[in-house]
Amino acid sequence: MSDAGRQAASQPGRLRQMEVYVTGAGGARPLVPVSPPALEEKAARTMSREACAYIIGGAGSEATMAANRAAFDRWRFVPRVLRDVARRDLSVSLLGRTHKAPLLLAPIGVLEMAHRDADLAVARAAAAEGIGYVFSNQASVAMERCASAMGDAPRWFQLYWSSDDDFVRSLLSRAEACGAEAIVVTLDTTLLGWRPRDLDLGWLPFLRGMGLAQYLSDPVFLSRIPASPPETGVKPKGSGLLKTALTLRAKGREHGLGFGQMRAAAAHFTATYSRPDLNWSDIARLREMTKLPILLKGLRHPDDAALAREHGVDGIIVSNHGGRQVDGEAATLDMLPHVVKAAGDIPVLMDSGIRSGADVAKALALGAKAVLLGRPYVYGLAIGGEAGVREVIRNVIAELDLTLALCGYASVSELGRASIVDACEEMATA
Ligand code: FNR
Ligand code: LAC
Repeated sequence: MSDAGRQAASQPGRLRQMEVYVTGAGGARPLVPVSPPALEEKAARTMSREACAYIIGGAGSEATMAANRAAFDRWRFVPRVLRDVARRDLSVSLLGRTHKAPLLLAPIGVLEMAHRDADLAVARAAAAEGIGYVFSNQASVAMERCASAMGDAPRWFQLYWSSDDDFVRSLLSRAEACGAEAIVVTLDTTLLGWRPRDLDLGWLPFLRGMGLAQYLSDPVFLSRIPASPPETGVKPKGSGLLKTALTLRAKGREHGLGFGQMRAAAAHFTATYSRPDLNWSDIARLREMTKLPILLKGLRHPDDAALAREHGVDGIIVSNHGGRQVDGEAATLDMLPHVVKAAGDIPVLMDSGIRSGADVAKALALGAKAVLLGRPYVYGLAIGGEAGVREVIRNVIAELDLTLALCGYASVSELGRASIVDACEEMATA
């Protein structure tokens, strides 16, 4: 890299500001709004009401979503000065590989609801920006296609543990074959949460064949599709029947399946989707099933972090699924320091509620090694496809870089408990 290139790489914040302000001098505006609420609003205007409900919505009264945000708001930086922060280092080492920034894109299912290029656009954007992407088990594009668009950029695979172990083994070996560097097993969604926005629309994408690409590209899953859909005792009703049938037919065609097979595949998916009986002995079994590092996603209780340590897992992702599962649970940022303490040497990542680079810095200050960015990149995708996702990533990294510098740190590893205060506690003791 040239000197100028190196200097630019160590100052992504200034670089992004100049890109926006210099092009802005000619009247051009960024493709995606920089302000997080404006980003969500613009994305909402481009999406169907079903996509808005599914992507933006959460469980119950959405109190968990609100708590996730309130926790970020409560923690405040206390910046230091006169510390020569002219060059910054945002990189972190995770599971033996250096990541350019302490940020990966979270696994998010059914991205075809946001944009037709779905996961493929996200994979390209992550690779172009040099950051990692966690492929969702409920993706709209098979992992092999996404992997082949990523060069050697890091990718992990997120697993929903189906009740069919042979299928799980098949997914794991596919993930290994396409260069995944870790398996992220999601534990907070062994059943789907109670989601009023989706329920009010009677909308579940999987029943329309959406978000099933990892299944319909899998030889074991395909071999298990029954000849006809199992009888469930409930039948679709209403004037949208034809539209749903057409969607299913079109989805089937994408995967070389007829209409009847597609109906049976969707029904087989719902019958085998996940395992509420999952327990710690399965984590020990998972060790035997893959040679890749294992991270547990959706762990929030410090006692579970201690168990994770006993079971020798390689990483923890503190997550409440963006408030989509349990209404009224604690914010992940509030649980983070407790989990970090109980986890000992295991690296702890977090997500749920991160909307900006300043949020990333707060999570790192409270002990996260890195974070997963969720809904914001989906909003970028909805607005501008691959280019929209790239802008969101650049904006988050730029703000992280500037926050770091302006708080007096030259490296993300310097962020710690001394960098921030709990504003509520400060007021209570004042
Ligand atoms: C998710 N999430 C998720 N997690 C996972 O492990 N597998 C998945 O397929 C999905 N699918 C999914 C769909 C949608 C529409 C959303 C919004 C989220 C959860 C995701 O990985 C992450 O934990 C949250 O998005 C973090 O919350 P915020 O920051 O987006 O609010
Ligand atoms: C969801 C699943 C796909 O949150 O993770 O909808």
